[in-house]
Amino acid sequence: MTRHALRADLLDFSHAPAWGSTGTDGVRFRPDHWLLVDGERIAGTLPGQQPPGPDWQQHDHRGRLLMPGFIDTHVHCPQLDVIASYGTGLLDWLNTYTFPAEQRFADPGVAAEGAARFLDALLAHGTTTAVVFPTVHKVSAEALFDAASARGMALVTGKVLMDRHAPPALLDDVAGARRDCEDLIRRHHGQGRKRYAMTVRFAATSTREQLAMAGELCRRHGGPGGIHMQTHVAENTDEVRWIAELFPESRSYLDVYHRHGLLNERAVLAHGIWLDAGDRALLRDTGAQIAHSPSSNLFLGSGLFDWQAAVDTPYRVSLASDVGGGTSLSLLRTMAEAYKVQALRGTRLSAWTALHAATRGAAEALGLAHEIGHLDTGALADVVLWDWARGPVAVHRDDIARGAVAGVAAQDLHARVFAFLTLADERNLVATWVAGQCRHTQERGG
Ligand code: GUN
Ligand code: ZN
Repeated sequence: MTRHALRADLLDFSHAPAWGSTGTDGVRFRPDHWLLVDGERIAGTLPGQQPPGPDWQQHDHRGRLLMPGFIDTHVHCPQLDVIASYGTGLLDWLNTYTFPAEQRFADPGVAAEGAARFLDALLAHGTTTAVVFPTVHKVSAEALFDAASARGMALVTGKVLMDRHAPPALLDDVAGARRDCEDLIRRHHGQGRKRYAMTVRFAATSTREQLAMAGELCRRHGGPGGIHMQTHVAENTDEVRWIAELFPESRSYLDVYHRHGLLNERAVLAHGIWLDAGDRALLRDTGAQIAHSPSSNLFLGSGLFDWQAAVDTPYRVSLASDVGGGTSLSLLRTMAEAYKVQALRGTRLSAWTALHAATRGAAEALGLAHEIGHLDTGALADVVLWDWARGPVAVHRDDIARGAVAGVAAQDLHARVFAFLTLADERNLVATWVAGQCRHTQERGG
């Protein structure tokens, strides 16, 4: 088994930093250290001046930044075809762009090619684990599981459920969907790093019978290590009105899912912009998380997520690109957008809360923190190496922050990391490692 030692500035979290704090409680910054990777797992760290012995293959990246791989808790594989599509809000966008594009994934060749392109793109953006929507077609989920296995990646996905309010080519039915889900769970869930999610597109595209079937499978395959659930909730005001018409018996949009047994600590709900205090309490009490998708929420004009209210309740929040509603697979860009959303709400998102939400926080919320989201000894070595800065403006800003400009005092660590996540993107990425294997490197131009 190959032993690798990576020398860089190591950054991760031991626990959640307090909301709004720019101090270092919870932050683990080890400048100029070796990260030891023995086979698939992290074996420990050493100070930069104490290199490991000759049986470790050394990769000296001093002056660069090494963090746990990012975890994107909500993203759509087939929507790389419609990213950056002009001019519509959620419901029109689904009908105009998304539903037509998703129909192509009925073809196994398209599904396999799409899954490979998508996972390679995630790795090239520094994301090593994702919770992914494929399409209604069983073959599209299968293709993602196979492509993730081939890359050694942890992946959460499941066939999309939709039996109404979509083009006929994207509709399933309760009995067929149940058979497909049971077969996929049996063959994939818990095999290697693959995890199954009951994937309800949103309440509008499933009948009560289909929601009840999904809830029944969540119960049957539930408990610690059980299957996940993913869906959308309260993203757009027109959507919220439509759900109220479709489900007049429910107290709220979120309550539709609760009534059907779909909320638990492995449930991931994208958006959650238009929630009330009762909904927030329900998220707290069930342990379900909101996958905050700021890039998508801005691009589709959906609204400004209230992160402060989530902290006050409290309930769990992770970060998501939501491509193709979102406009970038980069979780660094996503964090920068999240900061601006909170600024518009009159509050501020610290770099620590943002980075924690995309690493250890997401891993904890998904029940995967025993393996990923941090650089603890024993964790799987899903790690990403970054340049602190690329390009003259960012390099100068980083020089200012670290005290490398004569006459300017060094700033604190938060200031430097905040400038990094505001200015950096996938062009800063040097290499992505998955379970101890280098799976992506970026050619460096001049
Ligand atoms: N709600 C239902 N389907 C979708 C989707 O594909 N993207 C987004 N952003 N919201 C949805
Ligand atoms: Zn989505």
